[in-house]
Amino acid sequence: MFRTHTCGELRISNTDQKVTLSGWVQRSRRMGGMTFIDLRDRYGVTQLVFNEENNKELCDRSNKLGREFVIQITGSVSERSSKNDKIPTGDIEILVEELNILNTSATPPFTIEEKTDGGDDIRMKYRYLDLRRPNVRKNLELRHKMTMEVRRYLDNLGFLEVETPVLIGSTPEGARDFVVPSRMNPGEFYALPQSPQIFKQLLMVSGFDRYFQIVKCFRDEDLRADRQPEFTQIDCEMSFVEQEDVITAFEGMAKHLFKTIRNVELEGDFQRITWHEAMRLYGSDKPDTRFEMQFVELMDILKGHGFGVFDEAEYVGGICAKGAATYTRKQLDQLTDYVKRPQIGAKGMVYARVSDDGSVKSSVDKFYSQEVLQEMKVAFNAEPGDLILILSGDNTMKTRKQLCELRLKVAEELGLKDKNKFSCLWVVDFPLFEWDEENKRFAAVHHPFTSPKLEDLQYIDSDPGRVRANAYDMVINGVEVGGGSIRIHDGKLQNKMFEVLGFTPEKAQEQFGFLMNAFQYGAPPHGGIAYGLDRWVSLFAGLDSIRDCIAFPKNNSGRDVMIDAPATLDASQLDELHLSITTPTEE
Ligand code: AMO
Repeated sequence: MFRTHTCGELRISNTDQKVTLSGWVQRSRRMGGMTFIDLRDRYGVTQLVFNEENNKELCDRSNKLGREFVIQITGSVSERSSKNDKIPTGDIEILVEELNILNTSATPPFTIEEKTDGGDDIRMKYRYLDLRRPNVRKNLELRHKMTMEVRRYLDNLGFLEVETPVLIGSTPEGARDFVVPSRMNPGEFYALPQSPQIFKQLLMVSGFDRYFQIVKCFRDEDLRADRQPEFTQIDCEMSFVEQEDVITAFEGMAKHLFKTIRNVELEGDFQRITWHEAMRLYGSDKPDTRFEMQFVELMDILKGHGFGVFDEAEYVGGICAKGAATYTRKQLDQLTDYVKRPQIGAKGMVYARVSDDGSVKSSVDKFYSQEVLQEMKVAFNAEPGDLILILSGDNTMKTRKQLCELRLKVAEELGLKDKNKFSCLWVVDFPLFEWDEENKRFAAVHHPFTSPKLEDLQYIDSDPGRVRANAYDMVINGVEVGGGSIRIHDGKLQNKMFEVLGFTPEKAQEQFGFLMNAFQYGAPPHGGIAYGLDRWVSLFAGLDSIRDCIAFPKNNSGRDVMIDAPATLDASQLDELHLSITTPTEE
């Protein structure tokens, strides 16, 4: 038997028991005639003691153990004289009587402890060692617990887990596809699914009225802290439902996860906000509502007073940072530089402080009377000690997005992004289409199968931008943790959608013919949602990047530095796949 207990299991109640443990040598210390070793496994760390006085030969052998050697020991559990209250096994130690080296180890490239000396790159290269660290391991344990709870919740509601294929054709979901050449079909390619969208809709046609799948999805898009090229969805679809039914079922799942995983009881219904309101008040379709700082539009108050920047702007608006009038000139200059960075693109920032006596002092005082500034103060509900920050621009949507970045930055600086506070909301009534300036045509905001609101159908030809969709996103703390919609199940309406999206009937038939055909055979009304599992886990674990809850993630260039992928293929493999490589030319 390799072990009677794990390294995280023994307590004071086990004193005097004879036990066998197996694990990795985390560190060893010599003190006087004794050697202390921290033995680690997945479950924790237990202190081993080798005493020269009791067994010199054994103690000598223990002194030769290197870091990360795999050993098996037998000994008796003893109460420690100096206890360690930082670990659950800290009351005891094992007085070792037998030592068996199961394997040696090369010296690891970084220390494998909670706090490590290894940088990001080296830890990614040796991810299997990084995963021995308790912090990374805990994230995977949390992930496991969450998927178990998801399955339990959905199974209870009668959802059926069905697997859908990974080698498919292109699905239109907005990002680029990863493609796989087909050896047996020269010149043809599979695409990896961006989501199982079409298959889950086909399953509805098949009569599986409640489907789910915890499934890998693949998207070739620019990476960020909350994006990986391969990520996991909790993907669901339901038949004979309306938007309200899907929202109820999945708000229920969110509450179930909060309760079972975080022991947080969320009272009442989640807040709902329309997409238009979200853009107007926060400049974002995924607002962080842990803190207020809603936008206030100032065109009426600040235009027409001779300040050219505002007079010429289409949008003038700001936020009020409570108690931030203490910001120094230097801090304000830094904020201005922040919003002027090319990634954000604001032209400048105007600020105003509310003084203790209630008067307002702004960076553009020469254009505005105290009366106008007071009017502005009232619009913000601002009080003495508050700081007002204003942006303007010639494009309302762009300026709102810049103001959104400013809002998030200020909130971070003021410590308002509390990781233990959760603010959940649904963003509803998304527009069905958005104008694609590059291709000069409308594109689907969600995907082409999302149903319009029936009352807006009247605008589909005359003013497509005005048509709202039966689509909804769940947003928690400014993170889009899920999104879905009610689908079109009517062939005629689907064809109309393709027409507005600029597909010729032939092109629509070529790309979606199989779905349209299936829809001729009694497609039930249906709709669904997909949650981003990685985002949920990182939210619950308080992580800054979803990478930390994925066992083997890609880096920011989409590379797996451990196995060194992607990589070139050798000539014979390329031949077999009927591929030839042209060297990319610099543009
Ligand atoms: P959507 O594209 O909104 O919808 O994706 C659903 C959820 O998946 C997560 N997500 C990601 N997580 C990590 N890395 C990524 N690159 C990434 N992209 C998306 C987000 C997002 O909310 N088929 C539809 C769902 C439906 O209509 O039912 C879909 O895929 O949390």
